Amino acid sequence: MYQILIFCAHFNSVTKYFCFMSNLDSLDKIVSLAKARGFIFQSSEIYGGLSAVYDYGPLGVELKRNIRNAWWKEMTQRHSNIVGVDAAIFMHPRVWEASGHVGGFNDPMIDDKQSKKRYRADMLIEQYILKLEKDGKTEKATELQELLDTSGTRKSLTEDLYDIIIENEIKAPDSGAFDWTEVRQFNLMFKTQFGATSSEEDGVYLRPETAQGIFVNYKNVLDTSRVAVPFGIAQTGKAFRNEVVARQFVFRMREFEQMEMQFFVEPGTDAEAYNAWKEKRIGWHQRIGIRKENLRFADHPQDKLAHYALAAVDVQYQFPIGWQEVEGIHNRSDFDLTQHQEFSGKKLDYFDQKANKRYVPYVIETSIGLDRCTLMVLCDAYREEEVNGEKRTVLKMHPELAPVQVGVFPLIKKPELQELARKIEADLIEDYSVQYDEAGSIGKRYRRLDEAGTPFCITVDFDGLEDNTVTIRYRDDMSQERISVDKVADAIKDGMKGWSPS
Ligand code: GAP
Repeated sequence: MYQILIFCAHFNSVTKYFCFMSNLDSLDKIVSLAKARGFIFQSSEIYGGLSAVYDYGPLGVELKRNIRNAWWKEMTQRHSNIVGVDAAIFMHPRVWEASGHVGGFNDPMIDDKQSKKRYRADMLIEQYILKLEKDGKTEKATELQELLDTSGTRKSLTEDLYDIIIENEIKAPDSGAFDWTEVRQFNLMFKTQFGATSSEEDGVYLRPETAQGIFVNYKNVLDTSRVAVPFGIAQTGKAFRNEVVARQFVFRMREFEQMEMQFFVEPGTDAEAYNAWKEKRIGWHQRIGIRKENLRFADHPQDKLAHYALAAVDVQYQFPIGWQEVEGIHNRSDFDLTQHQEFSGKKLDYFDQKANKRYVPYVIETSIGLDRCTLMVLCDAYREEEVNGEKRTVLKMHPELAPVQVGVFPLIKKPELQELARKIEADLIEDYSVQYDEAGSIGKRYRRLDEAGTPFCITVDFDGLEDNTVTIRYRDDMSQERISVDKVADAIKDGMKGWSPS
């Protein structure tokens, strides 16, 4: 016991011995930590895994739920004119004809005949350009980038991409072979059978985005809720895409979760609403604790917009794999409602009573992947530090997102300490996610919860039994304070409120 107390005393002044080692330089570190600590596992791992499909473990499910709740609160509770829906994953197959997904939700693919591996043709060229840049061949890289950017203007898109690959002798990254098939368009939607018989007409798709569940319910919501344009409908839920290049952990998955909001506005006010949502959304990313310098906007060039979009911008995050999209904000015009009106034969226009006029509203969409957002939170929180010559891995995430928010420890396994620790746990459990831990040295317990991102740890020791105090230890700077047991809840509340990323 004496030794443990010495260790704690030493830790009271530990900030002096603490130095920053590194930020995250590779996604592999997150993959390892996620598996080791029970955030994210490969799906069906004991059978060798299922590619680009992942399961969330005990810590991961809490983190994901906290992010989903933070998004929901922001997008519905904080906006009196946004309501929620929860549409089914299966939808009428005509929905996907109307939305353009049956005809146009394709990626250009090319197969390596030798390894039988399939690649996205445009990404293959992009990787080749990156390599040229790395090798200092910038002129050639710029020339190829221009050719890639103008693909589809010389012959067809697939033929132009094929020509770039062949003329530049781009080899397959895995086999090194130069033995390609033609480039073909590959639809990303999963199709399955509906009902007992399996005729072509029974085929339904697993939704590739949640947005269409909002559009087909727009009239239902309008007729049953007290909303008027401008108003929004929010939804979170699973989406499925048969991604071909899906090798970056939960960044690109075949089954993933989206958090989408469609905001219906009067035509003519759409540009203003689009700009307002851009600012609101990047503000939210910062409020959930993502460092400002790791976020940026990337506008889609006008000639590269999706078929439905008048304007589009990505919120990008600086992942270890480079700047990548986390969220898309789109001005979808009246494309979706007009299409569904035409395909369903049902009127989807809006009668503006004040102005006494009818119109089909324009839609501003905000669309973020929950899994990709979870990955962003993990990447941004990850730190390696050196403490007294030892490596500390810590997740400095926003306390409100942390899967375990408070650790409660009796210093050693003695009934008096256990009893007070259990009482503190019981007091906090209604408001926070709390983990009681009495296994191993106190230092090991801190380290375990540092890796889980736990912002506050409460330790009960013998001195505290005398004067009704405990030690609260803060994750980010490892500072410790002696506080009265009655002040624990307030200290945690203040710590939550006052937190900012360091
Ligand atoms: N309704 C519009 C829409 O779906 P998107 O840009 O295709 O737009 C929106 O997707 C977001 O969904 C992306 O910014 C990304 O965060 C997430 N997402 C898309 N495909 C994904 C995938 N295969 N795996 C994980 N997240 C994905």
